[in-house]
Amino acid sequence: MLVRLMYASRAADSVSTDALGAILRRSRQDNQASGITGLLCLSGGSFLQVLEGGRAQVSALYNRIAADARHRDVVLLSYEEISERRFAGWAMGMIELSRLNPALLLKYSEAAVLDPYALSGRVAMALFEELIATASVSCSP
Ligand SMILES: Cc1cc2nc3c(=O)[nH]c(=O)nc-3n(C[C@H](O)[C@H](O)[C@H](O)COP(=O)(O)O)c2cc1C
Repeated sequence: MLVRLMYASRAADSVSTDALGAILRRSRQDNQASGITGLLCLSGGSFLQVLEGGRAQVSALYNRIAADARHRDVVLLSYEEISERRFAGWAMGMIELSRLNPALLLKYSEAAVLDPYALSGRVAMALFEELIATASVSCSP
């Protein structure tokens, strides 16, 4: 049984590029082992992440992530049962929104700086879909 979960959070002040690299390396290793796929997006100090996988695995990972001191104010944006994955190709793809064309963000949000807390789950999903369609996802930090 597959599920998809999306959340927003604020990066702790101390999260550097190195720390982000460490999160991604560990995520890719562990996610591959537990069958989790998804994307992690960083924009103006906020994270937006989508996780897909088995219900028990996604639930356990979300609980671990929510307790991680490298971010705070973790808010669940959406949770749904799915019949197929949309992000099967990524053990954890990374998107640095500051590198994107602002027009892409303006399509989905009020300003060219993304505020994940202002997004509905449906719009967050549409944005992620567009990001993979425009090859904006990278496999490095
Ligand atoms: C923004 C963010 C995203 C994360 N994404 C993942 C992830 O996709 N997979 C993962 O295994 N850990 C992820 N982590 C790390 C987990 O919070 C946790 O440190 C890791 O799963 C190891 O847990 P443990 O130390 O309890 O074994 C993420 C952490 C942060 C701050």
